[in-house]
Amino acid sequence: MKSNNSIPIPSHYNDLNGSLGEAWRLLTRGAADRKSPMHTPAVATVGLDGRPRVRTVVLRHTDPAARTLRFHTDRRAAKISEFAANPAVQVLAYDAVGKVQLRLLGRAVAHQHDDIADAAWTRSQLQSQQCYRQSASPGMSAAEPSAALAPSDDDGRANFVAVVVHVDELEWLYLAHSGHRRARFIWSGSTLTATWLAP
Ligand SMILES: Cc1cc2nc3c(=O)[nH]c(=O)nc-3n(C[C@H](O)[C@H](O)[C@H](O)COP(=O)(O)O)c2cc1C
Repeated sequence: MKSNNSIPIPSHYNDLNGSLGEAWRLLTRGAADRKSPMHTPAVATVGLDGRPRVRTVVLRHTDPAARTLRFHTDRRAAKISEFAANPAVQVLAYDAVGKVQLRLLGRAVAHQHDDIADAAWTRSQLQSQQCYRQSASPGMSAAEPSAALAPSDDDGRANFVAVVVHVDELEWLYLAHSGHRRARFIWSGSTLTATWLAP
């Protein structure tokens, strides 16, 4: 099918299940393909002062069946204290070519001393592991630009955290000349409620 300006209309256009499938497909590709626009989503938290905080992360793994996303961080990062106080997070990903915006609400769980963290650390490239050897805490004031970067003697594993976001709501927005499509998917346990929304 073609829209009135000859841009092909995707099969998910008027299909709630198809839109959800496409959302998870894009997020799965985002984790696997570093050139994907969804490789670097934004993660928003509630700051300890109650104000919002948002930052870019690298999406490391997507599990559509478990409805989880994973990214990695430093145990000393501000976001770790924020998760401890309030695990609610929103993840934002936008594919400008596919014209899809995804907004996911969920709960962040920080894994530091378990099999999930060990496996994620083992699979990380040496270059990524180097980031966790920084002796100063991320975000700490530094007298000189490079002062905080002095590496510690250990391998950095002690600072490494795998953060798993358990998604319970996904909002889909597809932009099209023929009319935008917006939908919300909410899971309560294994029950899914899917609704079209006015864009
Ligand atoms: C392209 C890009 C990728 C990033 N990936 C990560 C990441 O995977 N994990 C992470 O903790 N910070 C990552 N950062 C840095 C964060 O955006 C942020 O500056 C840092 O984590 C401090 O955030 P916090 O103080 O709110 O914890 C990335 C930044 C950019 C620009």
